[in-house]
Amino acid sequence: QPQMTAQIGNFTFKHLFLNASGVYCRTKQNLDDLLDNQATGGIVTKSATLRSRKGNPNPRYHSILNGAGSINSMGLPNYGLQYYLDYLLSKSFDKPTILSVAGTSFDENIELLKQIQDSDYQGMTELNLSCPNVVGKPQIAYDFETTNKILTEVFKFFKKPIGVKLPPYFDLNHFDQIAKILNQFPLDHVNSINSVGNGLWIDIETESVVIKPKKGFGGIGGKMVLPTGLANVRALRERLKPSIKMIGTGGITSGKDVFAYLLCGADLVSVGTQLGIESPKIFNRLESELAAIMVEKGYTSVNEFRGKLKSLE
Ligand code: DOR
Repeated sequence: QPQMTAQIGNFTFKHLFLNASGVYCRTKQNLDDLLDNQATGGIVTKSATLRSRKGNPNPRYHSILNGAGSINSMGLPNYGLQYYLDYLLSKSFDKPTILSVAGTSFDENIELLKQIQDSDYQGMTELNLSCPNVVGKPQIAYDFETTNKILTEVFKFFKKPIGVKLPPYFDLNHFDQIAKILNQFPLDHVNSINSVGNGLWIDIETESVVIKPKKGFGGIGGKMVLPTGLANVRALRERLKPSIKMIGTGGITSGKDVFAYLLCGADLVSVGTQLGIESPKIFNRLESELAAIMVEKGYTSVNEFRGKLKSLE
């Protein structure tokens, strides 16, 4: 078996696979099921807000083109920070844990992180700056000035390991701008990408949108976003300082896709839409497919090719 592990700060991941925040992680039972699965590298919670939220009205999730994609406008349904903190403090974990939080305002983000700082939680935290689905709220990380302000405030008091979840960018200048901001801070990781915000899917028979919130607009995930995810990991890996590790998210359905993310420089990967389709045992399939590719190519460790994507010429 080739070596397929990763390190983020002081945390060792014995397997490369995480759930993408939001998928299979809203309840303690979901999180336990993820942990029980052999090839799960670590777990990520549903992005928590201060209070529990029901989220947007149903229908709010729809599968596109026979599973090649998904559109969601969940609206951050979650049980509130304390629920996830209680779970994370209720036992010891043999795999790293990532507590995801997504405030719906500047002050809520600060308060969430103050509560985590003041708690006994010693795992990783991820600040979701990229939720596209809260009505009336922008995706924070598309506003570079606000992103800079939030992180400046956060690092005045936050001393625990923390990373950020980013939305996809589509302009090389935007990669330059966000990397310049992130490089100023002691972030332990960047996770790219969140869903591709505000896509639209239409049912031809009914001549209608397929999800209720926001007149049908929602975040796109699944196989159809793979090129965007790969581009974001590659572009950011080339721009971020080496101490900021990368989690690659978006469109993974096979071991080949995982191999591609690793070539782009991902340390770990996370799986959303396809995890929803296949359940946590998908990680075992992805791991054996990745191992087969590595054996075929003669690699004994992911470190031999991680980040070594070739350009033409
Ligand atoms: O696609 C997403 N859906 N990304 C998020 O960050 C939040 C989630 C939701 O709850 O709407």
